[in-house]
Amino acid sequence: MPDATRIPADRLSSLIARIFEAAGASPPDAETVADVLVEADLRGVESHGSTRVAGYVSMIRLGFLNPKPDVRVVRDTSTTAMLEGDRASGIVVAKRAMQMAMDKARAAGLGAVTARNVTHTGLVGFYPMMAARAGLIGVAMNNGPAILPPFGGITPTYATNPFAAAFPAGRREPIVLDMATSVVAGGKLRLAAKKGAEIPDTWALDRHGKPTTDPVEAIQHGFMQWAGGYKGFGLATVVEVLGGVLSGGLFGTDVPPLKDFGREPLATSAFCLAIDPERFMPLPEFRARIDRLVDQVKASELASGVDEVMIAGEPEARSKAERLREGIPVSAVVVEELTGLARELGLRAELS
Ligand SMILES: NC(=O)c1ccc[n+]([C@@H]2O[C@H](COP(=O)([O-])OP(=O)(O)OC[C@H]3O[C@@H](n4cnc5c(N)ncnc54)[C@H](O)[C@@H]3O)[C@@H](O)[C@H]2O)c1
Repeated sequence: MPDATRIPADRLSSLIARIFEAAGASPPDAETVADVLVEADLRGVESHGSTRVAGYVSMIRLGFLNPKPDVRVVRDTSTTAMLEGDRASGIVVAKRAMQMAMDKARAAGLGAVTARNVTHTGLVGFYPMMAARAGLIGVAMNNGPAILPPFGGITPTYATNPFAAAFPAGRREPIVLDMATSVVAGGKLRLAAKKGAEIPDTWALDRHGKPTTDPVEAIQHGFMQWAGGYKGFGLATVVEVLGGVLSGGLFGTDVPPLKDFGREPLATSAFCLAIDPERFMPLPEFRARIDRLVDQVKASELASGVDEVMIAGEPEARSKAERLREGIPVSAVVVEELTGLARELGLRAELS
């Protein structure tokens, strides 16, 4: 990858944390944001990694992201809670919501926590993975800016409404499904636009409703496509209800649209669920059953031209193992953004 520099994960994480702290976040919050962005880069989800730093800092500067929020617990029971996010980083509040859900799951078997009025949540799979690491089942999702029309419509109504779930395994890696309910995450279009690259013509339509390979046309005048047509739209509706409606946050067309990430307000609301498998069977038995399921999937006979069957989370786990060894390939345009921000904030950018 000639236009990218390999940067060790800890070095990238340290610079990102120092940038957020210098921009006004508390040291623990700055570290959380850096952790989640670098985890995305490690997992090969470049659209949700260090490319977001400039946008988040811009949101802080423009007053759209509150770096010193007063996040309040609005309701709290043994199994449920509601958080009011005060325009905080969605990453910081979603992590807290999942931690609360996990504590409740340990104590009561289940925990469900909503978090409204926060900004971008980043790599949504991060939060269920917290649960899986602790031997729990985790689910997380959030709504966001009205940018996609309902199936068959042309009025922007939902976001790319991500859905993620993770399950602890035994000798296998945890299963981690982490997906937008659109064909791909909107961030993949934004990253392509930033790099001046084309997108596959299956991702979005242009202003005339025709498939386009131009990410700028798609973002500014067109529409992304739902994953699996009306089925992706249906799943996005579930996310809209649990994230937006149940949380007491904004939902549907009430959420302001977003064309220019970092330069416009961004409101999302999230739902985090944790389940303790021990309430159903001993954890080692559950882990062994997950392993057996993965074994069955991996043992499938292969379709012609296919080398291997993978289960959700496997491509990203491989990327992480390789990038922990070799460093994260950060594209030239993102390195430039990070070093430029460091300079503006009076920080030393030691990246290589
Ligand atoms: N914060 C937000 O508001 C927001 C919104 C949308 C998306 N996102 C994030 O964007 C990221 C990317 O989303 P996406 O939908 O473009 O992801 P994707 O299409 O790259 O992957 C989706 C899922 O498919 C699995 N997968 C990929 N290739 C596979 C294969 N060959 N066989 C089996 N499984 C396979 C992956 O492990 C993953 O779980 C996610 O991390 C998501 O959380 C965030």
